[in-house]
Amino acid sequence: MRVLGIETSCDETGVAIYDDGRGSGAGLLAHRLYSQIDMHADYGGVVPELASRDHIRKLVPLVREVMAEAGCEPADIDGIAYTAGPGLAGALLTGALMARALAYAWGVPAVPVHHMEGHLLAPLLEPEPPAFPFVALLVSGGHTQLMRVDGIGRYELLGESIDDAAGEAFDKVAKMLGLNYPGGPEVSRRAQQGRDDAFAFPRPMLDRPGLDFSFSGLKTAVLTAREQTADYPEKVADICASFEAAAVDTLIRKCIRALKQTGLKRIVLAGGVSANRRLRADMAAALRGMGGQAFYPAPAFCTDNGAMIAFAGCQRLRAGETVGLGVSVRARWPM
Ligand code: KG4
Ligand code: ZN
Repeated sequence: MRVLGIETSCDETGVAIYDDGRGSGAGLLAHRLYSQIDMHADYGGVVPELASRDHIRKLVPLVREVMAEAGCEPADIDGIAYTAGPGLAGALLTGALMARALAYAWGVPAVPVHHMEGHLLAPLLEPEPPAFPFVALLVSGGHTQLMRVDGIGRYELLGESIDDAAGEAFDKVAKMLGLNYPGGPEVSRRAQQGRDDAFAFPRPMLDRPGLDFSFSGLKTAVLTAREQTADYPEKVADICASFEAAAVDTLIRKCIRALKQTGLKRIVLAGGVSANRRLRADMAAALRGMGGQAFYPAPAFCTDNGAMIAFAGCQRLRAGETVGLGVSVRARWPM
């Protein structure tokens, strides 16, 4: 089955074709990503109306490009998957309408995909995918969730952030320090030149049982540190390193707790923050002692992309899921 996937939930236009008739790691026939980050950077964050307009400009050219690269004609496509939420409503609608229109024109089913399920399944695109069951840490700009995953569509929420998402905390800290949008990669880059023990930032909720997270207190601690540090502009790298250490430490310790609680040994990390280098290195060190194994999407598929949507849509179509001619998207949508 060959599925065209379309992702437009935020500021990246992603289009890809996935074929599940090939071996592990070989199913992705073509993918294209157009990032609007440079456009939004001037505003310090995503401007929803501009995002929608730019998706509209890019969708048709990107669909043409992946079809050509995969050597596909419309008759070769068995279904069209699109991100139906959560995300920016206007941006979601551009992709949903494109998918629905192409599916109608080509006489194939359309299938809505939950954006976070896309992230969650992205590591399954890799040549050595994790076997079920596993624990998953979903860390993006909008979500921080720990899940127990027993199979496709069999997800149990173990814990989540009660306030800011981890990526959101990186973005807000970057903004406080006058760094570029999106904050995660920039904070991480600066952190490499700083000392991670320069500031004693809190590791929120580690002293309490359970698997929920909280990042707003950590964010406030960074703001206080900035205000109370006389030579603050010279300390930006130290603040970044200390913040990153606190955020990563919190994430890892909850992951280890989730593995112990479930008795599982495999953990999947996905979503934009899973690209973080320190998170990957420290996670590997934490797992070493307990015989655990971590799985990640390829770096290009940690952040938003069309490949994860084509893959997740293919699984949904195999399970017999399709939608009628109506188009609906959900800005908020629990998984
Ligand atoms: O998954 P994603 O592309 O979009 C959402 O679904 O939200 O994640 C974007 C988030 C942003 O908050 C960005 O700052 C963060 O992921 N991010 C990172 C890194 N790369 C992206 N955070 C920390 N370290 C990184 N290297
Ligand atoms: Zn995302």
